[in-house]
Amino acid sequence: MFKINDNYLKLPGSYLFSTIGRKVSAYSAAHPDKKIIRLGIGDVTQPLAPAIIEAMHSAVDEMGHAETFHGYAPDLGYAFLREAIAENDYKARGCGISADEIFISDGAKCDSGNIQEIFSLDNKIAVCDPVYPVYVDSNVMAGRTGTYDKATETWSDVIYMPCTAENGFAPQLPKETPDLIYLCFPNNPTGAAITRVQLQEWVDYANKVGAVIIYDAAYEAYISEEDVPHSIYECEGAAACAIELRSFSKNAGFTGVRLGFTVVPKELKCGGVALHDLWARRHGTKYNGAPYIVQRAGEAVYSEAGKAQLKEQVAYYMKNAGYIYHGLKEAGFTVSGGVNAPYIWLKTPSGMTSWEFFDYLLENANVVGTPGSGFGPSGEGYFRLTAFGSYENTVEAVDRIKALNR
Ligand SMILES: Cc1ncc(COP(=O)(O)O)c(C=O)c1O
Repeated sequence: MFKINDNYLKLPGSYLFSTIGRKVSAYSAAHPDKKIIRLGIGDVTQPLAPAIIEAMHSAVDEMGHAETFHGYAPDLGYAFLREAIAENDYKARGCGISADEIFISDGAKCDSGNIQEIFSLDNKIAVCDPVYPVYVDSNVMAGRTGTYDKATETWSDVIYMPCTAENGFAPQLPKETPDLIYLCFPNNPTGAAITRVQLQEWVDYANKVGAVIIYDAAYEAYISEEDVPHSIYECEGAAACAIELRSFSKNAGFTGVRLGFTVVPKELKCGGVALHDLWARRHGTKYNGAPYIVQRAGEAVYSEAGKAQLKEQVAYYMKNAGYIYHGLKEAGFTVSGGVNAPYIWLKTPSGMTSWEFFDYLLENANVVGTPGSGFGPSGEGYFRLTAFGSYENTVEAVDRIKALNR
């Protein structure tokens, strides 16, 4: 008789986006005349940049001729893309990451969920609270998190690092020593960033206690401040303790195209074993490579035209972020984020819970956001708005919220 992986049964079930969807559908069915503006889900809305479309078209044409047809991609990625990444994302920032330390994938969600496989089940993980849920859930599925406490919404074997207004939404070094530390900056959902000096403290800590940092830099393209690092490898000693995850979803609009990568430096070792070799083995066994057409599209992100067009695209979303941030601040809300990230994190007014504010905003302003409590207990009393909508919708949504407060 077969047995299932009953770790899956421990998962509390993520009702966040399905509950949001249900509430919005019910409201629009009851009020068909109302125009609902969605600033909830972190999906992009601008079309792919012309340089990317052009590269995709020419790759499609190549696939139509025997001489230029491409079958299975190399499972770790095509050299042309790995080299473009090494040059532009790392060498240009003074980081000594080489092309063969970069593993191409179909996105940061898969990589952030899969990376835990190369670590023993004995490892203890530390996560920020609130947090992008994939880090915890993938460890639950593996059986690394102990038991779930419904009352506190926490796992017995997970170290939670609260990110609150008091600490500027930057976690403090944990009291209990973790083995794996998940950090994401600029952060989803809080929109907070940390400085190079702050990140260096984490790198020094990880090297001291023998922990690995899994650094999710999916929102790197939104950094606007000088002292905020784009990569963890800008910190000294990071190559000995950190894995970095990157995505083409938010910097280049690839949410539906699918492309990302993970950096595992060769220097990162446990005893004599290089994590690089384990991840290469895992990738080679379970993954057959991102499509040629998509990797050529990814290469175009680093062309001169691609860079210029994507700078404009990021600026478009950041203009929205600025409008939300300043508009809500003017209206008397306590807001943060939106400077180095496309997310605005606001404190719910009048002591409302995150879900109460969700309902209030949906019913009174017809605006949809994401309740902070859906990202973890420390998110209660907060609300996330994204800058990924159109400028016109963003302006209308903010003006409606401002009008409520009068
Ligand atoms: C922190 C973080 N990491 C990873 C991802 C997923 O990225 P991808 O689209 O590359 O899978 C997201 C998507 O919203 C995210 O917020």
